[in-house]
Amino acid sequence: MLLRCPACEATHPHDPMLYACPRCGAPLEVGYSEEEMRRATAFEGRGVWRYRPLLPVDRAVTLGEGDTGLHVCERLGRELGIPRLYVKNEGENPTGSFKDRGMTVGIALAAAVGARAVACASTGNTSASMSAYAARAGLKALVLVPADKVAAGKLSQALVHGAVIAEIEGSFDDAMRLVTELAVCERSVYLLNSLNPYRLEGQKTLAFELCETLGEPPEAVVLPVGNAGNISALWKGFREFHSLGRIGRLPRMIGVQAEGAAPIVRALRGHGDLEPVPRPETVATAIRIGAPVNWRKAIAAIRDSEGEAGTVTDREILDAQTLLARLEGLFVEPASAAPIAYLRRRRLEVPGPVVCVATGNGLKDPDAVLGVPVLRERIHPDLAAVRRLIGS
Ligand SMILES: Cc1ncc(COP(=O)(O)O)c(C=O)c1O
Ligand SMILES: [Zn+2]
Repeated sequence: MLLRCPACEATHPHDPMLYACPRCGAPLEVGYSEEEMRRATAFEGRGVWRYRPLLPVDRAVTLGEGDTGLHVCERLGRELGIPRLYVKNEGENPTGSFKDRGMTVGIALAAAVGARAVACASTGNTSASMSAYAARAGLKALVLVPADKVAAGKLSQALVHGAVIAEIEGSFDDAMRLVTELAVCERSVYLLNSLNPYRLEGQKTLAFELCETLGEPPEAVVLPVGNAGNISALWKGFREFHSLGRIGRLPRMIGVQAEGAAPIVRALRGHGDLEPVPRPETVATAIRIGAPVNWRKAIAAIRDSEGEAGTVTDREILDAQTLLARLEGLFVEPASAAPIAYLRRRRLEVPGPVVCVATGNGLKDPDAVLGVPVLRERIHPDLAAVRRLIGS
């Protein structure tokens, strides 16, 4: 196992405390030797740890993550003009988001290197997941979140698991900068943002599961993009399965951002360099990020896969959230509805399987749905009043 820099192509020895390239500062990627790849033949068990031969650590700290539902969505597919539409419901993970796939691996590594505490900057879900897995491993947790911008459900998770919570008077990007500085000067604190390439190794298992459940690779994977760790991790997973000969082709990676927080979309439309968005804003607080640390990897994933990136408005996000809930019975948080909103706007013609990754559970952000249209009225406790309501 080694670390590779996707920016300057330098390689570095395996080191769980090395988050960024010492030569150029870019986030690193875990690499496996040919021998390690050759040995990755048998996958056993379920969930993330089924893929242990392609993970960087042996001993799991687990809450039963992965193995989430891949739901055929025929009614929604007809609405969007996609004949084979699936939603991968990552809200079925133990803490309600895809972050658990990475955290089970990241916390296992933190324990292995003897860290006393773990830390992250978060728009909510990373802090919820890290706090739960830290509790499981008996480690202290420190989370830095933008003040007043984290959904209530997510904050309550960090609270109940006993994390120390720093509410930063600034954006997620300020929190990210601070926690990175902290991890550099406090070596006993292990950093668990998606800057950490080992955490992303857990997240790539989502790609493996998709290929195994479908019996073929998807033709397109559509997912929300914030700090851009997940799109990078999935693309790495697909490439690894391809190089192992388990799939014969690669999917197109389609990244979706909110209009008020779309630095990756802008970079792709421009010269391919990141221009941070100074004051990102969107109802989808999970992806309210202006300076994604994994931007370079995400751009490579989109370009190399002949994919695309685009934006949706907050209104489109909330409408798509309701549409998915009402047509398919799946309640996802606003960020997770962005892919549906994008397919609705874009009307892509894709005959093969299209997978939307629903990254987080809708229960995490109940306030987001308070404005949805619904027949709801306060009535007297008598039958006539009930009948009047259903007749209206
Ligand atoms: C629900 C949800 N969707 C999408 C994302 C974006 O993932 P990434 O930061 O890996 O791009 C996040 C990140 O916090 C999230 O919580
Ligand atoms: Zn480098």
